[in-house]
Amino acid sequence: MQSDFSGIEGSLGIYRLLNFCSPAYIISRLARFLPDRYLPTQIFLDSLKRPAYAFGIYTAAIQARLLGYESISVIEFGVAGGAGLLSMELLARRIGAYFDVTIEVHGFDSGVGLPKPADHRDHPYLWREGDFQMDRDRLSSRLTGAHLWLGPVAETLPRFTGSPVGFVSFDLDFYSSTIDALQLFEMPPATRLPRVTCYFDDILLPNYASYTEKAGELLAIDEFNRDHSSMALSPLRGLKYTKPLKAPWHEQTYVLHDFGHEKYRHEIQQEQDRQRRLN
Ligand SMILES: C[S@@+](CC[C@H](N)C(=O)[O-])C[C@H]1O[C@@H](n2cnc3c(N)ncnc32)[C@H](O)[C@@H]1O
Repeated sequence: MQSDFSGIEGSLGIYRLLNFCSPAYIISRLARFLPDRYLPTQIFLDSLKRPAYAFGIYTAAIQARLLGYESISVIEFGVAGGAGLLSMELLARRIGAYFDVTIEVHGFDSGVGLPKPADHRDHPYLWREGDFQMDRDRLSSRLTGAHLWLGPVAETLPRFTGSPVGFVSFDLDFYSSTIDALQLFEMPPATRLPRVTCYFDDILLPNYASYTEKAGELLAIDEFNRDHSSMALSPLRGLKYTKPLKAPWHEQTYVLHDFGHEKYRHEIQQEQDRQRRLN
């Protein structure tokens, strides 16, 4: 039976039908079959699975290459069944090989689903304690190298060690949990790249969630920006204008700027791009 919410969100069937009528969508799907050397084309066309992760890991790897890092980390906060983390592993391997950068994958999760919403800022009208359970044995048997940090993120994150962080997906649903995860950026600057691409899953859709700057991940971002003068979390505003396919993640992608980072001022334009802009 059709859900009443499809009047607000649209339905998967209608989305699929509209997509199949779109030349950009057809080209994007066909580009999936291109050989590895066409990775930049696939990233631009959003051809790969989980394009938000593909884009974030790709931008991190370019930066690593240009700033001389041999190895970086990418993180998923909120793993649940592991679909996202498994995609992250695949993408990290493929993108790492293209740029000749080692990309470590780290996933943080309670292992037992969502905690109890603390107050209205955790959107209690959307989620319940225990939602998004993980089958730990099944996931562990499918992972091929990702590090799984199990337990409340407030307890596991302080123990985190790894290569400098270049991409983070925040998908913990709650304000309180996102505040805990943002402690990542309180660690010394050497633990990250000067600019870290970030994806925030719970700031836009579904429409019936009615996200507000006074709660959830949006509030955590606002407070982070209010409390820091030498760092900023800013949306990547150009994405929706450059991508051929319209997608919500373009507005869910942010960049953490660490202005005091020793490599913040290092030039990142490659010579051919610089010349093109000057001419
Ligand atoms: C929506 S699910 C993540 C889905 C996953 N990113 C994906 O795309 O497949 C949210 C997860 O956040 C985890 N979580 C929320 N708050 C947490 C906290 N404070 N500590 C650890 N895990 C937490 C829950 O266990 C839940 O599995």
